[in-house]
Amino acid sequence: MKVLVLGGPNLNLLGNREPEIYGTDTLKDIENWVNGLFSQKGIQSDWFQSNSESELIDKIQSAKANGYDSIVINPAGLTHSSVSLHDALRSFDGKKIEVHLSNTYKREEFRKIKITSSASDGVVEGFGKKSYAMAFHYLSELS
Ligand code: DQA
Repeated sequence: MKVLVLGGPNLNLLGNREPEIYGTDTLKDIENWVNGLFSQKGIQSDWFQSNSESELIDKIQSAKANGYDSIVINPAGLTHSSVSLHDALRSFDGKKIEVHLSNTYKREEFRKIKITSSASDGVVEGFGKKSYAMAFHYLSELS
């Protein structure tokens, strides 16, 4: 199974960004850790982060043509604002899992508004980098 892992705005700052909330791993650290766990379990993944909503939408639109079976996405702040990202995800015909490092329900009220989440098959949040591993675990059982 080929998985596209997408990361939204500010996730490029992981490691330094509010480490008490997001941990001290960089996104690259998380990528390497998850790939180490799952590359022998039938999952090949490509990770792409952007601060640009349009770049993320372009990646989703071209995902099928580029051979991806599934998308794991942490839309970051766009979770709470982006109808366009929601619509792009709906157009992807494959498994979709939304992940969050933090438990957004324990945070500010505005984070409880989830525009993108209903476009995915499921959501894993609140377990730090293990949120990604849980999403991959689910996908590995399908492949
Ligand atoms: C986040 C949660 C979002 O509310 C926030 O805007 C992020 C990160 C998470 O992974 O916990 O940037 O998606």
